[in-house]
Amino acid sequence: MSFEDTLKQTAGEIENLLSELLTFEGANAPAVIEAMRYSALGQGKRLRPFFVTEASSLFGVERSHGLHAGAAIECIHCYSLVHDDLPAMDDDDLRRGKPTTHIAFTEATAILAGDGLLTFAFEILGRSATHPDPQVRCDLVRLLARAAGAEGMVGGQMLDLEAETKTSTTLDETILLQGMKTGALFRFSCEAGAVLGQAGAEDRAILLTYADRIGLAFQIADDLLDAESTAEELGKRTQKDAEAGKATFIDLLGLEGARTRAHEIADEACDALERYGDAAEDLKRAARFIVDRKN
Ligand code: IPE
Ligand code: IPE
Ligand code: MG
Ligand code: MG
Ligand code: MG
Repeated sequence: MSFEDTLKQTAGEIENLLSELLTFEGANAPAVIEAMRYSALGQGKRLRPFFVTEASSLFGVERSHGLHAGAAIECIHCYSLVHDDLPAMDDDDLRRGKPTTHIAFTEATAILAGDGLLTFAFEILGRSATHPDPQVRCDLVRLLARAAGAEGMVGGQMLDLEAETKTSTTLDETILLQGMKTGALFRFSCEAGAVLGQAGAEDRAILLTYADRIGLAFQIADDLLDAESTAEELGKRTQKDAEAGKATFIDLLGLEGARTRAHEIADEACDALERYGDAAEDLKRAARFIVDRKN
């Protein structure tokens, strides 16, 4: 099976599970649920859940547990996109090939839909369907809160906004910013596999090394796509980073330099997985996909 088909298969499973989880029978405020479903369902590569299930498979984790933890991180990711697109942030009107949530609904509804997805992620992690052992569930909650919060994604988004008004950003500052903004959710995704599998510290450290590399490679590719692709191909507006004065690797390394660096980092990610041999083949293919992807 091609890597694209393998990824699509997991994306299909995540779509079905999210659709089932985001049902809320007899809900009293259906308008926010409709906006949450609009924001979370229908599209998306579902890369973060893929990393959860692939890392989980290294440790013999039951697939439905990996899928539940994957659904949780995808809720956080979708919330981060809804808020990232708001007028006060990147002010985008197109996401995953359709109008952004605040365009399709209202700005206030989009804020609440984001809040709803953020909090729902933790409800999913707290359910026994994610793992029978409450200690494992508690560890996942703590790690996800940290990855998504002020020392992770939210902090990275803050630095990203601040960079817009700075005259220059160094390579180290950009690596820190992007590692928080994008890398932290990838770190959770990979580490979650080891946590679900109740693996030891060494395995966790290996997966975190891998995650750091793919997180960075992923964001370099996102910046390259913003600079070089089209809205039709990408399903979101392009050429926005330069316009907004964002801190990207392209400013620092140039287009070719950034591309070369992304490939080197993907190779480093693969090297980190040596101890797992063929069992890590799809994680290695994922690292290469991340830098070669067209959307
Ligand atoms: C886009 O993430 C946002 C960033 C973190 C740069 P993805 O490229 O994974 O978006 P979807 O989920 O496939 O739409
Ligand atoms: C967004 O980064 C990252 C998060 C949502 C945390 P970008 O602003 O670069 O993402 P896109 O390019 O809009 O998808
Ligand atoms: Mg942004
Ligand atoms: Mg954006
Ligand atoms: Mg971007």
